[in-house]
Amino acid sequence: MNESGADIDDLLGRMTLAEKIGQLNLLPAGEGLVTGAGGGSRLAERIDTACIGGVFGTKSRASARSMQQRALEASRLNIPLLFAEDVIHGHRTVFPLPIALACSWDMELVEETAAFAAGEAAALGIHQAYAPMIDVARDPRWGRVAESPGEDPTLAARYAAAMTRGLQGDDPSAPGRVAACLKHFVAYGAPESGRDYDNASMALEDLFGAHLPPFEAGVRAGALSVMVAFNAVAKLPMHAHEPLIEGWLRGRIGFDGLVVSDYTGIKELTAHGLGRPETVVARALHAGVDMDMVGEDYLEHLPALAEGGIDDAESGTRFGASEIRKLVDRACRRVLTFKARLGLFDDPFRGMPEGSEPDVAPTAEGRALARRAAVRSAVLLKNEGVLPLGPDRRRIALIGPFADDRINMLGTWAVCGQADDVVSLRNVLSDRPGIELRCAEGCNVVEEPWLADRLNVFGPIVRLDPRPEEETIAEAVACARDADMVVLALGEAKEHAGESSSRLAPELPAPQRRLLEAVARTGTKLVVVIFAGRPLALGPVTAAADALLLAWHGGIEGPRAIVDLLFGDAAPSGRLAATLPAHPGQTPVFHAIEPTGRPSGGGFEKFRTGWLDLDDAATVFPFGFGLGYSAVRYGAPVADRLEARGEEESIEVGVDLTNEGDRSTIETVQLYLSDPVARVTRPVRELKDFRRITLQPGETGHVRFTVTAAMQRYPLAPSLEEAAFVRDPGRIIVHIGPNSRDTQALELTWHG
Ligand code: NOJ
Repeated sequence: MNESGADIDDLLGRMTLAEKIGQLNLLPAGEGLVTGAGGGSRLAERIDTACIGGVFGTKSRASARSMQQRALEASRLNIPLLFAEDVIHGHRTVFPLPIALACSWDMELVEETAAFAAGEAAALGIHQAYAPMIDVARDPRWGRVAESPGEDPTLAARYAAAMTRGLQGDDPSAPGRVAACLKHFVAYGAPESGRDYDNASMALEDLFGAHLPPFEAGVRAGALSVMVAFNAVAKLPMHAHEPLIEGWLRGRIGFDGLVVSDYTGIKELTAHGLGRPETVVARALHAGVDMDMVGEDYLEHLPALAEGGIDDAESGTRFGASEIRKLVDRACRRVLTFKARLGLFDDPFRGMPEGSEPDVAPTAEGRALARRAAVRSAVLLKNEGVLPLGPDRRRIALIGPFADDRINMLGTWAVCGQADDVVSLRNVLSDRPGIELRCAEGCNVVEEPWLADRLNVFGPIVRLDPRPEEETIAEAVACARDADMVVLALGEAKEHAGESSSRLAPELPAPQRRLLEAVARTGTKLVVVIFAGRPLALGPVTAAADALLLAWHGGIEGPRAIVDLLFGDAAPSGRLAATLPAHPGQTPVFHAIEPTGRPSGGGFEKFRTGWLDLDDAATVFPFGFGLGYSAVRYGAPVADRLEARGEEESIEVGVDLTNEGDRSTIETVQLYLSDPVARVTRPVRELKDFRRITLQPGETGHVRFTVTAAMQRYPLAPSLEEAAFVRDPGRIIVHIGPNSRDTQALELTWHG
């Protein structure tokens, strides 16, 4: 018996082979079944012949209900459909991008946004969210950095757990909850040269040290499902990666939920070079991919494979018919168990009661949460005394291609998001009393018509002004000259980032750089607000701006949050979840780099690690960095003792912090460790823990961390199967500070 009361063994025993294979098939709703009327779509046909286990992408309760009704009528054994959706950063109430939410370092907030999104999705009959996306991403060229929690495995692991708790709660079958789906398993965030879908080649130590930990954390938090990545890892495409899926994920970590393919990912194994369609089907099933999303390759090839097996000498693939039938049973059992865990056998119409559609328009509560999330996600990078804006800054020139934008605020992956739900920066500012606002777009988002076409692929999000750029820039300059203050809204369109949106050079597009230069030359005080879906190289912007705020794509309340921050109604507290490169060519870039024999700053004038043509003084905004409106002074870190021994002992380290400003502030105190001598080369420092503390003006607070033996363990991996986490006796350096660079150190010794 399953925990929901459904007897999966009994059910499986009564199913035909065709019914079992049908359960492994997952299709998009598309335009297929919007009403109960049916029609001749592929989806309708699959439902009517019980050849489908789940559907993703349904946008209404009525369509979900009608599909469920038909599926139950068609299924001899009354097996319900499963409904999934990409609920990535909110559903109708769109929150900031995941990379932005991660910059809050506020896991309660992350959990709250996920729980809210789960409620909205569940109200439309959705059972499973294709989230959290927990790919550690260290290459700003990769467009899906937008969807990721950034560069660091510890932060990503916390984010994975928080999102999972938010989506599933204590009981994913409870009303308003959905199953989490950890994705993309694994190392999808490390594609060659940042090109989406490209393969990841890395030391196995990096796989175990950086890319697998967030998945382990998500599994430990109870995530019910996992999605496999499109790419190959260490030469083996993930959809065929038996050692990682069955071996590590299930065998080592104990995951016992559902593994779903990514979109046509099984079919794509053929293009990866693994063999004919039937060969790759056998390999994916054997690897542990239970459900086939979109491709229908299981549906097409498993019947024959289950009859005759496969012996494909060219690819070295051999499975007997009975082995295939056992693998079909295994996958089907997991699909049914998943449905049972979601309570679908008890209530197949869960979340889709008969009657009218729910009103999904954002509520005041959702907006308040979205605004708080956007406030906490924005990162203040520079402030030469101009923010918060004082009463002397009344005549404001709002300039830039995102000044009056709504749709791009949503960010990538807002499948239910509506531009109409967003109030533009221009509207928020003009609603603010006592402000004289002048506006100009100044330039286009990009200049190349073909690139604009690519950005507009899902609908118009950028528009090319046909006027010559000199004219639009001159208009903006006039506007700036006449103001007390310029707010310059620059950055990326939402489709600049996200899936299949890798960029050669992660920086502001050329027309925006020209606009920046021209506006800066006016000498009017300049606040630059950057909307982006990836870490951008902001060197020239930093030099030109008096204040610089990285707002990412902040969701439906993004612009309101920016105005809250500009005027000091709220104080910035975001900290970078990913390093911002000093130059667009400085990729990959992340704080946990390894030392080399010739480090920069190590006494080597020329023959050292680095770039010949990158100025040493160029600005890199380090991981963990972010300013507030109050200066916080750190005391010297103190340890309760300097030596410890063995696995059980630990050392408490703490630091006093004083808010020297005149307003309340949230400080994110970060703990890094480095291991100066080990069996292999180890990162120069790694984030191990962090705490957020609120300090009132003048208040001194204390933050304490426990340094454990477990924190010091690192992976050694002669092979996937033999990988182990080890620890050596000796020195451990603790670094505490407000970001990964500006830390104070303390040396500890661990004896054995
Ligand atoms: C492909 C993406 O890689 C994945 O993240 C998403 O969940 C599926 N498409 C379904 O939309």
